[in-house]
Amino acid sequence: MAGFISSSLRPGSPSFLDLPWALPVGQWVGQCAYLEPLPIGLTRHPVVFIHYQEALYALKELPPGLAEKEYQLLRQMKEQHLPTVDPIGHVQVKTAQGEASILITRYLEYSMPYQALFASPDRDRHRDLLLDAMASLLVQLHLAGVYWGDCSLSNTLFRRDAGTLQAYLVDAETSEIHPTLSESLRSYELDVMEENVCGALADLMASGLIPASYPVIETGAYIRERYERLWAEINREEVLDAQQPYRVQERIRALNQLGFSVDEVVLQRTPDGDKLRMRAVVTDRHFHRELLHSLTGVDAEDRQAEQIMNEIQELRARLMQQQNRSMPVSVAAWRWLQELYQPSLERLKPWRPEDTHPTQLYCQMLEHKWFLSEKAQQDVGHETSALDYIETVLKSVSGARDLNVIPIEGTP
Ligand SMILES: Nc1ncnc2c1ncn2[C@@H]1O[C@H](COP(=O)(O)OP(=O)(O)OP(=O)(O)O)[C@@H](O)[C@H]1O
Ligand SMILES: [Mg+2]
Repeated sequence: MAGFISSSLRPGSPSFLDLPWALPVGQWVGQCAYLEPLPIGLTRHPVVFIHYQEALYALKELPPGLAEKEYQLLRQMKEQHLPTVDPIGHVQVKTAQGEASILITRYLEYSMPYQALFASPDRDRHRDLLLDAMASLLVQLHLAGVYWGDCSLSNTLFRRDAGTLQAYLVDAETSEIHPTLSESLRSYELDVMEENVCGALADLMASGLIPASYPVIETGAYIRERYERLWAEINREEVLDAQQPYRVQERIRALNQLGFSVDEVVLQRTPDGDKLRMRAVVTDRHFHRELLHSLTGVDAEDRQAEQIMNEIQELRARLMQQQNRSMPVSVAAWRWLQELYQPSLERLKPWRPEDTHPTQLYCQMLEHKWFLSEKAQQDVGHETSALDYIETVLKSVSGARDLNVIPIEGTP
């Protein structure tokens, strides 16, 4: 009999039993009340999005066995805090076309496929950010021993992160996880990336989405260059004198500044005996977001969190100066949450574009505040900035949406 055969799902997930499993996913339109038409990148396999019990999910139909394989790979990557889509489970089904397996992932909210970035009026600014985001994603995967196997723009999703972009791996079908990645696999992955990026951009050019002058061939090489620079910085070994222990802290701080959390610092005496060789072992690129989350409970991408942590440190310095006493950062973080973050978001809430995460909106408002303060030659404050941001940016974005126009990112 056609239909559901078996499933394996993460605890706390819905059972998804009332989906039309007897039909191939490609035939669900008109047959499944939960379907959500959301922007989608290029797909080889049928992919649908559903709105099911308050959450959004992506379902991808694959040949038997492959959904479980991809699910297991994504789970291992998630355990290592890598930026990937969140695996929920896999389902085995039988349809009129035979057996198939379905991978279920949480829909990556506030994300955009690369086509949406290139179609946006901000394309030129996005280009640079996209190169950094791709390079950073590859570095994070390779540090964790992950060989992606099919690194391409269509297998990546992008999320706005303060003034930058974060790239997420969406397709792990061909990935492999090694204890450490060999030089040759890293290099091969970069070759594949260059070829795939070039192909995707050539398609965009053919469809008129980017101008004929766009550096189609060079873009992959730019990503590689940024990757190599970041990789070298992270894996750099330093030699120090035994009398310079402060240099260990300096190195940790420099890596934290780049967003990387340091798990271990390995020191080894040099053969001649009077120097130390230092190597830092980094885990993930979540340093700022973990710090912010532990202090305030606020969820953010890493760059957003870095910007907010700077704001918390400024607030702390100001309060310490006013009160002429020291203050733990946790107290400043609590005051920031109560006095700045929550009231600002409360003001902005009715005008928040659907595709913008609240923390992103807050960071955009902060940028607006800097812009206004610079013009006024003094700090104009959060309240004034939020109101001005609503008047000059958010109202026109929601007006544009009413006219069915793609909203422009709301920074001045
Ligand atoms: N969890 C998700 N959240 C948001 N979008 C998703 C998600 N999963 C898939 N997508 C969208 O579906 C597109 C296709 O997904 P994916 O790359 O996994 O399938 P595929 O291309 O058919 O597989 P493959 O590349 O292995 O042949 C993605 O580019 C993305 O736009
Ligand atoms: Mg794909």
